[in-house]
Amino acid sequence: MNGTLPGYGTAVSKKFWMAITGIILFAYVLVHMIGNLKLFQGPEKLNSYAEWLRQVGGPVLPPSGLLWIVRGVLLISVVIHTAAAFQLTVMNRQARRIGYVRFVPLASNYAARTMRWSGVIVLLFIVYHLLHLTWGTAHRDFRPGDVYHNVVSGFQNVWVSAAYVAAQLALGFHLYHGLWSLFQSMGWNHMRFNRWRKIFAVSFTAIIAIGNLSLPIAVLLGVVS
Ligand code: HEM
Repeated sequence: MNGTLPGYGTAVSKKFWMAITGIILFAYVLVHMIGNLKLFQGPEKLNSYAEWLRQVGGPVLPPSGLLWIVRGVLLISVVIHTAAAFQLTVMNRQARRIGYVRFVPLASNYAARTMRWSGVIVLLFIVYHLLHLTWGTAHRDFRPGDVYHNVVSGFQNVWVSAAYVAAQLALGFHLYHGLWSLFQSMGWNHMRFNRWRKIFAVSFTAIIAIGNLSLPIAVLLGVVS
């Protein structure tokens, strides 16, 4: 990617592109979570919302046109975000080839390590999630177009729900550290704002985690069936 994006070669610009693509992915996760809450309104509402997503943008765009644009932007964002994370890790390791005389873990090392493992779990989750609820390959009773049925029958399996819960926890860690470091990467940090940065990161992470976790939990408790 070096040479493709403006000034991409430096660590600062990789962090900048990670922040920009992180904002896009974060916005998607937030909107997706709000849409998924329609599960609580019943099959008609959720299924017609899913159908609307395929029609929106028409008649200017062909059916699913806007959806494909969004998918394209998401895919490009995931690729840039992951590639920049990988390249920054390599750059960090090269810079420390001599190693520490005595390794003292710092808060920033802890955050970077957390970001790496939570990022890998979120990536693996996205692959599983697409196979499960978009293509249905990993779903025992997938019905094309019946999103409500697919979600409810999917989450009725305790192991599937457990996998979703675990992935949401990893996503929570990733979002919290990501939202916190976002300001630093964009050069918007100042000691005076640190309290607000923390409140912002904690609140948005909590909103997304609680919203997403409520779905498998509601199905397992029989609140939604
Ligand atoms: C409990 C939480 C979640 C539920 C119930 C859920 C539900 C769904 C469903 C039903 C679909 C298929 C929609 C359709 O075919 O019309 C879908 C697609 C998708 N989900 Fe999720 N989702 C959850 C969490 C997430 C998270 C955390 C992410 C990202 C990190 C994510 C990313 C996606 C993506 C990228 C698609 C494909 C969209 C498309 O191409 O149409 N989902 N989700």
